[in-house]
Amino acid sequence: MINDDLPNGDEESLHETWPSESDVGNHVAPPHCRSTHLLDVPAHRNGTLGRTISQLNAAVQLNHIDESRYYPSTLRPGRLMPLDLGLEGAHVLVTGASGGIGLEITRLFAEQGAKVTAHYNTNSATLQPLISQYGSQHIRALRADLTDEAAVSKLFDEATSSSFGAVHILILNHAISAKIREPVWKISLERWKHTIDVNLTSSFIVVKEYLKRLEMTPDVIKDRASVVIIGSTAGQFGEAGNADYAASKSALMYGLTLSLKNEIVKIAPKARVNSIGPGWTVTPRTEPSIKNPDIVYTALATTPLKKVAMPQDIAPQVALLASQRVSGHITGQVLMIQGGMEGRLLNKQAEL
Ligand SMILES: NC(=O)c1ccc[n+]([C@@H]2O[C@H](COP(=O)([O-])OP(=O)(O)OC[C@H]3O[C@@H](n4cnc5c(N)ncnc54)[C@H](OP(=O)(O)O)[C@@H]3O)[C@@H](O)[C@H]2O)c1
Repeated sequence: MINDDLPNGDEESLHETWPSESDVGNHVAPPHCRSTHLLDVPAHRNGTLGRTISQLNAAVQLNHIDESRYYPSTLRPGRLMPLDLGLEGAHVLVTGASGGIGLEITRLFAEQGAKVTAHYNTNSATLQPLISQYGSQHIRALRADLTDEAAVSKLFDEATSSSFGAVHILILNHAISAKIREPVWKISLERWKHTIDVNLTSSFIVVKEYLKRLEMTPDVIKDRASVVIIGSTAGQFGEAGNADYAASKSALMYGLTLSLKNEIVKIAPKARVNSIGPGWTVTPRTEPSIKNPDIVYTALATTPLKKVAMPQDIAPQVALLASQRVSGHITGQVLMIQGGMEGRLLNKQAEL
């Protein structure tokens, strides 16, 4: 049921996402297109990928594209390997980094050479193996209650006063979901307010602090600015018994993302805001539920890929969207990662 054989973001699997020969036509790049300003075809790439890169080189040449108009020199596409995400040295703040998906996001950014401030709320223990593996020059764990404005300001002070410098990229990943499923008429006002506070209001506080500081940073930081917000299929389809969580996720994925993507460009013209909407994903928190066959059946009944996700399915898409190099023209999008799920299974046969 659970697929462990998943893309790991390595070079080969990322390269396979490039268009196929048939996608880009059959043009052959003329020899003069092999300029150092364009994508270099690695010597060992003599198959479809090599031809594809040649075709892209030709397209750049034919369209007389002046890259320098659009990208600062360090960010121009194709300077290094074709799908280098350009995240090396970027300072990324990941909220809820100590949780299941947050850990994988943190690991992947560190692997890409980024400097990650890994936020946690109560438990930094899960982050320690990653810090040991990648070193404190790549991952630093910082604690904060994100519902508290002063604590968030302190978090940014601590994060940016280190050698990591100003935050380039913000990943809003933290969230809670009540343990008990209750219909709206049974949800207490206290529960409702707590969920909205932790998931939505805290995200407002964090992104507000990020933007306030971004406004003051030099263009070299602004040019890499990007926000990725982790939503949920609950925000797309709703979730009976979990309306507080679903409402917070809809607000994050739609109202907040779509407003922010229009505001952020006022202070950083190339900055982008996107959301990711995972479906059921195996983490220590969800594993007990995912072991329940009824829950799995209900989740997968409308899902053509017939499997739940792993954190390794989510993190690469977060990194891709955060990357100015590969996603520099993508903003205001909600990328659903849910195996093609079409909606909720509301009634089983016995219930009709
Ligand atoms: N797993 C899924 O099936 C699934 C599906 C759809 C969407 N998502 C979304 O994906 C994201 C990550 O989910 P996950 O399953 O990895 O969650 P998780 O393992 O429960 O981790 C949640 C993270 O949020 C932090 N957090 C909890 N309460 C907080 C608070 N009051 N203030 C600040 N941070 C707090 C936790 O910190 P501490 O542990 O340090 O307390 C932890 O790092 C969430 O936004 C979730 O809604 C998950």
